[in-house]
This record gives sequence, C-alpha cells and structure tokens, in this order.
Amino acid sequence: MARVVNAQSEALPQALAEAVQRLRAGTLVGLPTETVYGLAADADQPAAVARVYAAKGRPADHPLIVHIAAEPATARAEALAHYAATVPAFAQRLMAAFWPGPLTVILPRRPGVAEAAAAGQASIGLRCPAHPVAQALLRACSAAGIRALAAPSANRFGRISPTRAEHVLAELEPVLDDDTLLVLDAGPCPVGIESTIVDATREHPVLLRPGMITRAQLQAVAGVPVGERDAAAPRASGTLASHYAPRARVRLMSADELQAALDLLGGQAQSIAVYHRSPLHTVSPHVRLQRMPDDAATCARELFAVLRALDDADTRLIWVERPPEDAAWDGVRDRLQRAAA
Ligand code: TXA
Ligand code: MG
Repeated sequence: MARVVNAQSEALPQALAEAVQRLRAGTLVGLPTETVYGLAADADQPAAVARVYAAKGRPADHPLIVHIAAEPATARAEALAHYAATVPAFAQRLMAAFWPGPLTVILPRRPGVAEAAAAGQASIGLRCPAHPVAQALLRACSAAGIRALAAPSANRFGRISPTRAEHVLAELEPVLDDDTLLVLDAGPCPVGIESTIVDATREHPVLLRPGMITRAQLQAVAGVPVGERDAAAPRASGTLASHYAPRARVRLMSADELQAALDLLGGQAQSIAVYHRSPLHTVSPHVRLQRMPDDAATCARELFAVLRALDDADTRLIWVERPPEDAAWDGVRDRLQRAAA
C-alpha cells in the first residue's frame, strides 16, 4: 500500500517531516499543487528521478518540471541561478508576475545540473507553485539541503492527471511496490488543469501548453508577442495530440450534433455518458448526464474528476459538448481535444 497522510492544518508538520525524510532517501512523494498532484523526487538525485519515470511508464526522453521554493527570495534566486544558464528579460517579467502560480518556464539549462530530470535536453522547465502545501514542502526541503523537486503529474503516461489524492492512488498503487509512495493529501486542486508552459529558450516567448494563465495575460506582462508552437518548438508530452485520455472514447460535438445523436439513440440502453452545457431534451434514461459549469475556472477545477467519474467500467463513449471559443477556455478546450484525439 502507498501511504496517504493528511497534509492539512495541524497534521502538516508531521506530514512534511516524513516527506522530507523520504525524499532524502530517494523515494517518491505525491505532491499537491494548485494545478494537479505531482509525483515528486529530489531533482538532483538521478536514481530517484529514474523511479519517477518507471512509476509513470514515461518515455525516457520526456523531461520533468523542476519545482522550486518561492521563499526565502534568496533561495528562489539561488535555485534559478543553479538550474538556468540564462534568463531572458521577458522570462524575468513573467516569473515576477505569475510566480508563485501555475506557470512553467522552459529555460536554457546550466550544463551538468539536473541531467536526469531534464531527460538530457539542453533546457530545463522551472515552476514555482502557489499551493501552500507544495510551498511548505519545498521550503522544508530547501532547509534540509534538497534544492528542488522534479515532479510530473502523478498519473500513468498518457492518462488523466490526478486532482485528488485518491486519483494518485488509483493511478500508481497498481504499479508501485509496498511503501514506496507517500501521498500528501491536501484535498482537491483549486486550478485543476496543468500549468501554462512558456518556452523561453529562444529570442521570443512561445506558448507550449495552454493553461489557466491565458496568452493575453502572458503577452501583457512579457511586453513582446507570445508565439505559437512551431516545428522548432521543443516536443512535450503534454502537447502530444493524444494525451489526458480516459479509457472510454471521447467525442467533442456541437449542441446540435449532441442532441441529434441522443435523438438517434431513442430509449435504447447504451453505455454513454454526456458532459453538456446546453439544455437537452428526450434523453434515454440509460445515458449518464453531467452538466458543464458556465465559467472556465469552475470547469477546469472539476474537469479531470468528472472525466474520471464518467469513465467507469461500463462507459464506452463520452460525448462532450464543445466548450466556448473564447480565450478563457483555451486550457480546458486543449485538454478536451487531446482526450478526444
Ligand atoms: O501543473 C503542472 O505543470 C504539473 C504540476 C505537478 O506541477 N506538472 C505537469 O508535469 O504537468 P508533466 O510532466 O505532466 O508535464 C510537463 C510538461 C511535459 O509536457 C514536458 O514534456 C514539458 O512539460 N517539459 C518539461 N521540461 C521541459 C523542457 N526542458 N523542454 C520542453 N518541455 C518540457
Ligand atoms: Mg502530465
């Protein structure tokens, strides 16, 4: 069994002490962040980082994000200078505005550091998370000589990211040996989809993965246009066409297509679940319905838990109504498109 410990309020100091001890010993910790739960290892221990790849079933050439403490400010500056070879001015501005928070910045890597976490790439992804438990752990780590935590989302490769401690167990319990994982349970993640990733290894910023920080917000702070991914952009697993996939087939549809498909079903028993925004009529009693929230932030917060819940043993198809086109929905739309690919 993996061990799940309460990491809220009075239980936190005890949980942190155990987590730091395990990280020093090179074992893994389920880390709550504001976006999703991560699977954390000491970023500077190659053997521990290798355990992360093994647990996820992640290809060896997909780099991990390295998480750093926000405070003390000297520790953050020291970690940045340790991992990054250079930090362009636009990246400095992005970090000043959005850290701590759901933004990952890809920077040129200082040769010789965090080779394993970076999967040998010449760059490194750095993130300073806002979640109080993540920050408390990073501070405790830094006091114990652990500079940073390499942590991908705590799911098996290609699957839905976990936004609750029980999702982490559902993903990793089947593949981990007894007592090799400690999960810090801080309840549901408040943002719900993974961080926005910006590539800062070229002269201008490039948006690699949309998240809840929008392109317009990035652009306003960066002071320069934020480009689209192109052929020269680094490959990233979260940017593969098919990712975040439930077991059932996901199909994105307009409200009209959805209603027409449901009309065709009539009253037949079907293993279909529907995540919809528009009101529906004449729906078979066998179809499971879930209403999509009206605002993007609420939808993002519940998205992965909803997909997991709809994706149970007898669901074959999940029909999802296309989210709105506006920029606030870019992150949610991206995850749904990948789930459907
Ligand atoms: O919100 C998040 O970012 C969560 C939490 C746990 O922090 N983490 C997360 O990690 O989503 P992961 O590994 O599931 O996705 C990280 C993405 C991957 O697509 C990876 O390829 C990309 O970041 N990435 C990391 N380092 C990179 C680098 N040096 N160059 C290009 N892409 C990189
Ligand atoms: Mg992931």
